Amino acid sequence: MGLSGPDAPDAAAHPAAASVFGDEAGRADVYARLLATKGTEWGLMGPREVDRIWDRHVLNSVAVGEAIPASARVVDVGSGAGLPGIPLALARPDLHVSLLEPLLRRATFLTEVVAELGLGDRVVVVRGRAVPAGDNDPLGHHDRYDAVTSRAVAPLPRLLGWSAPLLREHGTIVALKGASAPDEVAAAAADLKRHRLTASVASVTTHEGADPTWLVVASR
Ligand SMILES: C[S@@+](CC[C@H](N)C(=O)[O-])C[C@H]1O[C@@H](n2cnc3c(N)ncnc32)[C@H](O)[C@@H]1O
Repeated sequence: MGLSGPDAPDAAAHPAAASVFGDEAGRADVYARLLATKGTEWGLMGPREVDRIWDRHVLNSVAVGEAIPASARVVDVGSGAGLPGIPLALARPDLHVSLLEPLLRRATFLTEVVAELGLGDRVVVVRGRAVPAGDNDPLGHHDRYDAVTSRAVAPLPRLLGWSAPLLREHGTIVALKGASAPDEVAAAAADLKRHRLTASVASVTTHEGADPTWLVVASR
């Protein structure tokens, strides 16, 4: 693919790729290389992230799958360069994933990634914004998804306002957060109640030797 070079991570050599992605380790490798090359050239990924694309981004993203039921329809809000949506789709071939992203350059990158990885049968790019309940929903995405994922998109109260309307009645919000996740959940008690959601925090380790990552899991 012409993506190897000094800046491309040694993706295939990551010891956890096969155990986390199974048969899709090769496509995960292609994605990691796209992030390291085109992703940095287009300014979607900082150059200093290249050395930690696997641990901090690709593998870490798979953690959201812990809280997503089989065969779910998922929307990844604020997907950016495809995180966590693309690694989730690769690790979980049972899911249909919509990557929701308002910015043109990011949406274009996502469209190219989906084509390059051959994921078009169950991953779609939607250029647009998540909006609170009651706002005009021009995309018609409210009340449609079994799960809403996100990472690094907004503080929990605002994120709940954008994510809750996208859920079907019994859907689940899964937000990748840092170690402050329990404090964020405690501080958002009133917001959770308003959206009729109950939240818990799960600490997930995606593979042996990985740092734990925190999920806020909120459902009705
Ligand atoms: C800091 S980036 C995180 C990107 C990616 N999730 C990641 O972890 O690398 C936040 C992203 O959220 C998007 N965003 C901001 N507000 C949004 C909204 N209301 N609906 C959907 N996406 C939004 C931005 O365009 C941006 O791509």
